[in-house]
Parts: sequence; structure tokens; C-alpha cells
Amino acid sequence: MQHSALDNAPPHGLKHVAIIMDGNGRWAQARHRPRLYGHHAGAKRVREIVQASKDLGIEYLTIFAFSTENWKRTQVEVAGLMNLFRRYIAKEMRALHDEHVRVRFIGDRVRLDAKLIALMDEVEALTRHNTQINLTIALNYGARDEVARATRLLAADVASGKLCPDDVDEETLPRYLDTRVLPDPDLVIRTSGEARISNFLLWQSAYAEYEFIDTLWPDFTGDELARLCKGYGARERRFGATSA
Ligand code: FPP
Repeated sequence: MQHSALDNAPPHGLKHVAIIMDGNGRWAQARHRPRLYGHHAGAKRVREIVQASKDLGIEYLTIFAFSTENWKRTQVEVAGLMNLFRRYIAKEMRALHDEHVRVRFIGDRVRLDAKLIALMDEVEALTRHNTQINLTIALNYGARDEVARATRLLAADVASGKLCPDDVDEETLPRYLDTRVLPDPDLVIRTSGEARISNFLLWQSAYAEYEFIDTLWPDFTGDELARLCKGYGARERRFGATSA
């Protein structure tokens, strides 16, 4: 395992961090460059944040790369982002594996092109035995869409007699969600000053702490992540109970 200065700041009890990477467009605009320039800068940040998360002892990092709503952007931006995802996976696959990162994707694959899906399958298969950190990339992900798809699967199991309606409780639905193998996030970070959840991990974040920070995603650093983790460790999470 690689070590860095961040090793001295272990996040107390923080297992899963989820990040809404926002602000690429404004970052590019401030430099009088096209929006895709910002997305490329944002993609470069991912490696540092994965590394920093590893050093901080975070076991699960989930990042929101493309939402079910993002298809409404211009055709040029959508095509540019899809191209970026393909290139990113192809280029980073080996390095992620060498860093013992297990990569997974959540979201609906139906609208993604075959080449991208093949790369997603390839990196998931290559890294499936890695245990250092779990990186989950949300791609064509929307929480409402995820819950709708999960409900469809659950309803099919009821219809086939595999599941009894009376047995459906809070533990049942999560078994059908894309995140079924992941723990719930402890901390959700959104960059760029927007205080919105934007359809990200709605079911899973019921008890998460939130941090809305002004930094634009391409400027977000491992040190800032470490600071947020430290802040999280100082808080008391009661899950609806009273203090001891
Ligand atoms: C939001 O910024 C960002 C996105 C919709 C794309 C996120 C993608 C990346 C960070 C790059 C690639 C990621 C991977 C995993 C390779 P925005 O465009 O909404 O910014 P704005 O609010 O300033 O316009």
C-alpha cells in the first residue's frame, strides 16, 4: 500500500464516501474554454481522489459521473462525455488494477453504447478480486430510475411466487438496487456550491451526512477530502436515537 501525508488523518468510522462531482462547466467557463475542457480536468481529479481515499482508509468511494438527466445536455457535450468515459476507462484500467482498486458501475446500461459497456465489463472483471478500495462509478444513474428498476425486479419475483408481499420490508428493496453489494454512504459530498442531491443515492443516503462545498470539482484535492473526513469524525451520528 502506498503512503502519503494523509495517513495521519484516519477518518473515524467513515467507510463509504459518495461524491457529486459538480462544477466542471463553470471551471472551464472561468478559463474561457469549452465545457468539455472542464470535464477533462475533472476526470484528471478522479485519480488523486481515489488515491487520497485509499490513504484515508475509506473502503468505498462512489462518484456520480453521468445522471439519467444529463442526456438533456447538448449532443456535443453528451458525445464528448461518452468519449471521455471510454478513453478514461481504457487508459486508467491498468493503473487502477495495479493500485488494487475494485471498480464497479451503477446505473442503467441500456442507453450506453456497446463499446463503452464492453470496457465497463472489462474493468469490472479485471479488478474483481481487488480489495484495497471499492470505486463505484455512477453512469447513466438516477436514484428514481434505480428504485423503479428495482421495484420491477421485485414485482417479478412476487409474480413468480419467489417472494411473498407480506415479507417485503426495509431489507427487501435494497437487495434489488444497483448498490446491493455496497454499504450505505456515510458521507455525501457535493462540490461547486449547489445544495442539492440531484437524484443521487436517495434510498441509500437516508442517514448520510452531507457536505456542500464551494470548490469546483477540478479544484477538489485530497487535502480537502481529508479535512471533510476529519469533520465527519468529529460529529455524532444518532440514526434517530438520543445521545447516550
Ligand atoms: C458536473 O459538472 C459534471 C458532470 C456532469 C460530469 C462529471 C464527469 C467528470 C468529473 C469527469 C469524468 C469522470 C470519470 C469517472 C472519468 P457540470 O458540467 O454540471 O458543471 P457546471 O454545473 O459548472 O456546469
